[in-house]
Amino acid sequence: MAEPYIRIRGLTQRFWDNEVLCGIDLDVFRGETLVILGGSGGGKSVLLKHLPGLLQAQSGSIQIDGVEITGLEERKLGPIRKQMGVMFQAGALFDSFTVAENVAFPLRENGVRDEAEIAARVAEALKIVRLPGQEEKFPSDLSGGMRKRVALARAVVGRPACVLYDEPHAGLDPITGDSIDHLIKDLQQDLGMTNVVVTHELRSVFHIADRVAFLDNGRVEWTGTPDELRETTHAGLRAFVAGDSGEPWK
Ligand SMILES: Nc1ncnc2c1ncn2[C@@H]1O[C@H](COP(=O)(O)OP(=O)(O)OP(=O)(O)O)[C@@H](O)[C@H]1O
Ligand SMILES: [Mg+2]
Repeated sequence: MAEPYIRIRGLTQRFWDNEVLCGIDLDVFRGETLVILGGSGGGKSVLLKHLPGLLQAQSGSIQIDGVEITGLEERKLGPIRKQMGVMFQAGALFDSFTVAENVAFPLRENGVRDEAEIAARVAEALKIVRLPGQEEKFPSDLSGGMRKRVALARAVVGRPACVLYDEPHAGLDPITGDSIDHLIKDLQQDLGMTNVVVTHELRSVFHIADRVAFLDNGRVEWTGTPDELRETTHAGLRAFVAGDSGEPWK
């Protein structure tokens, strides 16, 4: 098997007495779309935040493209962050910034100063998310789906090798959600990007995932293909897929 692009072993994280990650083992292969499923509060967002080094592991190992990032000092994380675009759960556009200023933000953070280059790359990113020419609008002028696409443009503007998506479908109607799925697949197919997607949207799993990882009890309890997910006998995963909490209805 090929070397994984992201290799996580024995990753643990706790907040006071709340043990959130209890030994995560997970590989993400170059050029694949991996979907992470799991219950609310189970640590999916916490897991994603370790990958660009926004959270430091308590223990365990995380390698990105062969580089161990646990224990790496802040300034050495720069090159890792450049490889990784992030679409955060909250979307988090700056309301007082235009679309162009929002999308340009990671470029400026990474020290790009050439205004013509910034404008060209913002225009290109907006074209990728099918919002060409929207540079001068403000987030408040846009629909929820358009705001998500601006957040996606911001995640890909630095041409990362990998994009992390935290709930890219949240709050969207199914058709708008499908359009996000098409964008995720296009990024993989046209630009060779590696995608790691956290979602609750099962229909999207079957549209976009090459592989699925199920997070439960602070561990990756199951990995497999979407076809294997349909057939799984894993009780916890079946209950999750069926949306069954096990509690009787009154
Ligand atoms: N910075 C933090 N400080 C303290 N506790 C935190 C912090 N971030 C997350 N947690 C806790 O870690 C646990 C996992 O949170 P996380 O946001 O990763 O869940 P999630 O799987 O993404 O859930 P959801 O599907 O609802 O987004 C929760 O109990 C949360 O309260
Ligand atoms: Mg989350």
